[in-house]
Amino acid sequence: MARDELLDPSELPEEVEPTIPDEPQPSLRPRRLDDFVGQAETKARLGVILTAAARRGQSVDHLLFAGPPGLGKTSLAGIVAAEMGVELHVTSGPALERPGDVAAILTKLGEGDVLFIDEIHRLSRSVEEVLYPALEDFVLDIVLGKGPAARTIRLELPRFCLVGATTRTGLITGPLRDRFGLVARLDYYDPEDLRAIVERAAGILGASITTEGATEIASRSRGTPRIANRLLRRVRDVAEVTGDGSIDAGVAAEGLALFGIDELGLDKVDRSVLSALCERFGGGPVGLSTLAIAVSEPTETVEDVYEPYLIQQGLLVRTPRGRVATAAAWRHLRLVPPASALPSSESLFD
Ligand SMILES: Nc1ncnc2c1ncn2[C@@H]1O[C@H](COP(=O)(O)OP(=O)(O)OP(=O)(O)O)[C@@H](O)[C@H]1O
Ligand SMILES: [Mg+2]
Repeated sequence: MARDELLDPSELPEEVEPTIPDEPQPSLRPRRLDDFVGQAETKARLGVILTAAARRGQSVDHLLFAGPPGLGKTSLAGIVAAEMGVELHVTSGPALERPGDVAAILTKLGEGDVLFIDEIHRLSRSVEEVLYPALEDFVLDIVLGKGPAARTIRLELPRFCLVGATTRTGLITGPLRDRFGLVARLDYYDPEDLRAIVERAAGILGASITTEGATEIASRSRGTPRIANRLLRRVRDVAEVTGDGSIDAGVAAEGLALFGIDELGLDKVDRSVLSALCERFGGGPVGLSTLAIAVSEPTETVEDVYEPYLIQQGLLVRTPRGRVATAAAWRHLRLVPPASALPSSESLFD
């Protein structure tokens, strides 16, 4: 799921994550709810849920965070554990292959602990079925033996809090989704919040930055804190190499240009998705898998990582017949579309 542009090695996805992988030092990950900028609605709801649970001395209801990569789902799982003063156990959907894997992790949990399952939409059916009674009644049914001699024993589990994260709510089965007390959808951050995130991160990194510099980085970060932080680090490098290390709008623009980020925040892969769509497929409609092959990226990555922002920016639309470039996409690439290329609702002169 990681974008290979400007990739930090520490952010490479792992099948099994023993703990939340730390970012390059110092870490910019928010630890407490107060450090978490933006997503006001989710934050408010979460604040109430955590405070109420703490007052009652109970564990927190199961929580599901959904949304595109890099918006703070993993961070929120850590925050829930930190705010409740409990331990965080981290795993992921693909790592829990067999029911036994779930049993192993569930029996390690302490009272009130947070179990974080990343990519929860990738759980297998059989694993999900073991989870249902664990989530609802905090019991684990273990089958001993096989065939007619098989018997089930029931283990009591501590009251734990499952935090699930997914980039695809659509792929979560109904029965699993229904067992969460809160399903929170994280949206792309608005520029003001991103600017605050850049300023907070600059503070942690000890970099001096003007409001305009932070605004410049924020406006080109595809609404995504992870990208904002990554661009800030790169711009800081440029500021240190070419100047006295302080970041203003000019230095930020220079640094972003050096790393191939354009004025909409699109990087090389984003632009190659758009240019493949426009130049090789005449603006579409073209099927997702064909488009993914054209840019040499896995289909899932194009769908989860690249497309959502292109759609949000009004550069690409999903139609029943495939992906279509909008007039804005042609304009952005400085290309003139053939008259037949635009979705029927748009004209060249809008
Ligand atoms: N609200 C926020 N305030 C400040 N920083 C944030 C916020 N959300 C995310 N970040 C920063 O962005 C980085 C990525 O966030 P995180 O790992 O939580 O995203 P994610 O949604 O779990 O992504 P993925 O789907 O790829 O696992 C964090 O390490 C942190 O530095
Ligand atoms: Mg994550």
